Amino acid sequence: MNTARNVNGREHRSGGQATIHFTVNGRNRAVTVPPMKRLLDVLREDLHLTGTKEGCGEGECGSCSVRMNGELVNSCLVPVLQAEGAKILTVEGLAVGKHLHPLQEAFLNQGGAQCGICTPGMLMAAEQLLAQNPHPTMAEIREALAGNLCRCTGFMRIFESVVAAAAAESATQAKAPHLEKTHHAR
Ligand code: FES
Ligand code: FES
Repeated sequence: MNTARNVNGREHRSGGQATIHFTVNGRNRAVTVPPMKRLLDVLREDLHLTGTKEGCGEGECGSCSVRMNGELVNSCLVPVLQAEGAKILTVEGLAVGKHLHPLQEAFLNQGGAQCGICTPGMLMAAEQLLAQNPHPTMAEIREALAGNLCRCTGFMRIFESVVAAAAAESATQAKAPHLEKTHHAR
């Protein structure tokens, strides 16, 4: 098998496979896969991170949303080659140890999840929103989640879950303003 270097100087093997290096939820990972394999499939099949879901597979539903280098992306549309050197956050990375992310708590408490297929994508989109705008209005929440579809049509409870999570985070910050927002630091 021939060996060459990819654009980042790392090993790239011919024969239909490439070794891609990236960070997932703070952990360095390397996978040797077809370079056009979807990031969604690499996460689920090669890294066994099955929290990220496939809905449409066409970039329409947002179920496969992950954060890549700080941007929300549909992982069904990202060839893993494009993730070389990237920092990726998946739904598995939201909780810190045994402590659920405030959004996860809120979705649980507010009934924001029904069948759960859309939930990881909703959580990632909401996490992105709260990281940039800790006090969103309902209109801003609707806009931020507009790319995420829920077949169970539980949108109001989803929106209310985001409102509750934002309020919970504000309350935490008010009680302990010196604490860093660890959930939003990634
Ligand atoms: S599965 Fe990726 S956007 Fe629907
Ligand atoms: S909870 Fe079922 S698709 Fe949203």
